Amino acid sequence: MHWDHVIKNGIIVDGKESYQANIYIKNEKISAISRDELEGEAGEVTDAAGKYVLPGLIDVHVHSRDGENGATYKEDFYHSTMSAAAGGLTTVFEMPNSNPAIYNAEMLEKQIKHLTPKAHVDFAIWGLCLGKLNMHELQALSEAGVIAFKFFWGYAIDSKTYQLIYNYSPGMENAIPPLGDGEIYQMFAEIAKTGKLVGIHAENFDLIQTLTREVEKSGDKSYAAFLKGRPNVAEETIIQTAISFAKQTGARLHILHLAAKEGIDIIKRAQEEGYPVSAETCSHYLALCDEDFDRVGPVMKVYPPVRRREDQEMLWSGLKEGVLSLVSSDHAPHTEEEKAGDLWSIPAGMASIETLAPLMIDAVSQGRITIHELAAVLSEKPAKLFGIYPEKGSLKVGTDADITIVDLQVKHTVKKENLHSKSKVTPFDGFQLTGAPVQTIVRGKTIMKDGEIVSGPVGKFIKPLE
Ligand code: DOR
Ligand code: ZN
Repeated sequence: MHWDHVIKNGIIVDGKESYQANIYIKNEKISAISRDELEGEAGEVTDAAGKYVLPGLIDVHVHSRDGENGATYKEDFYHSTMSAAAGGLTTVFEMPNSNPAIYNAEMLEKQIKHLTPKAHVDFAIWGLCLGKLNMHELQALSEAGVIAFKFFWGYAIDSKTYQLIYNYSPGMENAIPPLGDGEIYQMFAEIAKTGKLVGIHAENFDLIQTLTREVEKSGDKSYAAFLKGRPNVAEETIIQTAISFAKQTGARLHILHLAAKEGIDIIKRAQEEGYPVSAETCSHYLALCDEDFDRVGPVMKVYPPVRRREDQEMLWSGLKEGVLSLVSSDHAPHTEEEKAGDLWSIPAGMASIETLAPLMIDAVSQGRITIHELAAVLSEKPAKLFGIYPEKGSLKVGTDADITIVDLQVKHTVKKENLHSKSKVTPFDGFQLTGAPVQTIVRGKTIMKDGEIVSGPVGKFIKPLE
């Protein structure tokens, strides 16, 4: 027998099991898993002795800025997926608020063609919900293969380009104001028919605008004041409403980037009642809190904001308990220059795709989560939730040979200049971590080894399985 790639002696982590065995790969699939040596020669042999072999890690929330008119001076898909591979990820889900935005089947087809030649890892694409502007296109967009639908609750959009408007004020030219509840409700009902998830950005912008103006009048420019303008209740109210709408319409609801502790209890209650409500948090909400601001500075500005220690603790327990299904990066890069100003005027978001897995692996080394929980929240659960399991998210024979090899012992320091993304804006510069992804394998092919990118783009577009 000729194997394309054999991974020897690693500790295989799949579901609740872990055991030492060899993985045999042929034609991009896992062909056999065996404790014994199987006969035959191999194109590539990886010795994984003493290391953990995980199903390829997945990041469901990435803004690579790419597209025909994309803000590629900030980032592009070539760099974001290189950064993903360097950080141990084998699949990423690209957000649809690109330029052009992904709001119908035709735009999706164009974006697939545009991104594929640059993809170092496999990728899926979200579809954008614009209320009555594209409600009638959602079914076709679903059939064309979007992984799920995204709705930016409370955002106004540009009437020509459908780009999000971050500094909206009523009466603004060329702006479509934030959707009202009636339109959102109807849209949820339409999405429900597709059977796909609707992921929401849950922040109450009316509340935020009012409170931020109040804080600005006071002249207080501190991080505490910033949080007063964007308080927990701004997330809480939208999550409540979204859950009510989802219960009535049957939409499968996913709360993106949860930062506020109040979200945990509300989401948990809906889950206990049996509704299909899921949620994620991001690595920055788990690794940072307001106390870090003095040291890290405005680069940690992100929406929703990094909140207090009690929020951070609650998110960790929500993750342990399973209320939160997964952790994403919300990779949202801006340039060094754009992020250099003061907290109140700079854009929100950071380059976080490459540090997602290392931070979570460090959490395993620190004993916060187990290696099985790591594989669950970064691979198995996202794959199941979005309908790509077991092809992705498992190490089962016959499925895609997407594999992340993890060394739990290696100590390293995050250095921003070493990141592979175009933007090096990270709040984690100088973080000392224990444990790292040491090899990224996409459908049998090694893309990253010991931190080096060793392959060009081989990534493919993926759709939810039927
Ligand atoms: O901080 C953020 N930045 N939050 C978002 O939801 C959008 C993102 C961006 O695209 O810059
Ligand atoms: Zn985002």
